[in-house]
Amino acid sequence: MIYYTYIYIYVCITLIELNFILVQELVEFMSKIRGNKVKFDANKLVLTAGSTSANETLMFCLADPGDAFLLPVPYYPGFDRDLKWRTGVEIVPIQCRSSNGFRITSSALEEAYLQAQDKGLKVKGVLVTNPSNPLGTTLTRDELDLLIDFAIDKEAHIVSDEIFSGTVFDSQSFVSIAEVLNDRNLEGSEVFDRVHIVYSLSKDLGVPGFRIGMVYSNDEQVVSAATKMSSFGLVSSQTQYTFSRMLSDKKFTAKYLKENRKRLKRRKEILVSGLKSAGIKCLKSNACLFAWVDMRSLLSSDTFEAEKELWKRIVYEVGLNVSPGSSCHCTEPGWFRMCFANMSEETLGVALQRFKAFAETLIRSKQQQQQSAGKCYSRTRSLTRWVFQLASDDRETDR
Ligand SMILES: Cc1ncc(COP(=O)(O)O)c(C=O)c1O
Repeated sequence: MIYYTYIYIYVCITLIELNFILVQELVEFMSKIRGNKVKFDANKLVLTAGSTSANETLMFCLADPGDAFLLPVPYYPGFDRDLKWRTGVEIVPIQCRSSNGFRITSSALEEAYLQAQDKGLKVKGVLVTNPSNPLGTTLTRDELDLLIDFAIDKEAHIVSDEIFSGTVFDSQSFVSIAEVLNDRNLEGSEVFDRVHIVYSLSKDLGVPGFRIGMVYSNDEQVVSAATKMSSFGLVSSQTQYTFSRMLSDKKFTAKYLKENRKRLKRRKEILVSGLKSAGIKCLKSNACLFAWVDMRSLLSSDTFEAEKELWKRIVYEVGLNVSPGSSCHCTEPGWFRMCFANMSEETLGVALQRFKAFAETLIRSKQQQQQSAGKCYSRTRSLTRWVFQLASDDRETDR
């Protein structure tokens, strides 16, 4: 009996040590991604089974059923599941539009807040993805300042999902919310405790199947509750061991991040220039594994029905699986998210060739339609009503 007790204690100590080592490596890795401009504290980090679990855990910790979180649209479609399904939390959209590159404005933030209030919902906070899924852009310092001011003013929380932080090709332009808190000397203030970061290795190391995510919170109570809740989504000890070894190899991680960014940048450029040659533009982006593509010129009308019709044609006729903007709650029809990182360069080339042929045919037929409509229009204008009446098959009145 004593023998088994010893073994049990030994195993427990080993697992705690393992957790400690991985958490330590993770905070260092997160600092490295942010150019070592911010230091993270291992005691504030809770391991979760991916960011999916981290986001849901935070909703359980921060909101009651029926409370609301404000999210800029377009947003990652998985949030409807992760934030709402089991927690009963409501998402209220912050309307971002193409006219300013889908940036968050104070009026849009205020409008969303009022909209939630009109619906009788208590706003608990704002959740952003930085860099953004699906836009592939990083939040500007002004936007981050705006969010912090809003959180101070409304006593709200900020959840910053920074799952794509290691994919920023232009590393100078990624600013974490943690950095802004530091720069504004907000440590120790009330709002400091209301800022929570979500991260996972799924995207930056390309390992979504291993389920390594985390909640990083400045609030002790949130850390404590999230730690208890993490039992529902643990990271296996084998995974913890593997990744603590991998992350401890600093030469490897530095090389990996650099090479990954270089390759993503190149892929994005190939996609953007390929689409440009087909007459299609993308939102200017600097991060992530995808581009936000403006296919409004390919729509048969300015509606979500037309977007769906186009999406179906791209899937069935071109053989490409792209995400329509409506799935990300975009309010303007015609935007699509196109991934460029989940295939070889050769496959990307084939995809672009096919897409270009499709887009060119579509644009040509639209132009022809417009031209014939134009001809018809000019004919209608050059001929008199009397001629039309005579030419019509329906000439009841003439008989
Ligand atoms: C913004 C964002 N958050 C969370 C997730 C979920 O990531 P994970 O695989 O770590 O659960 C994703 C996955 O695509 C995502 O894009």
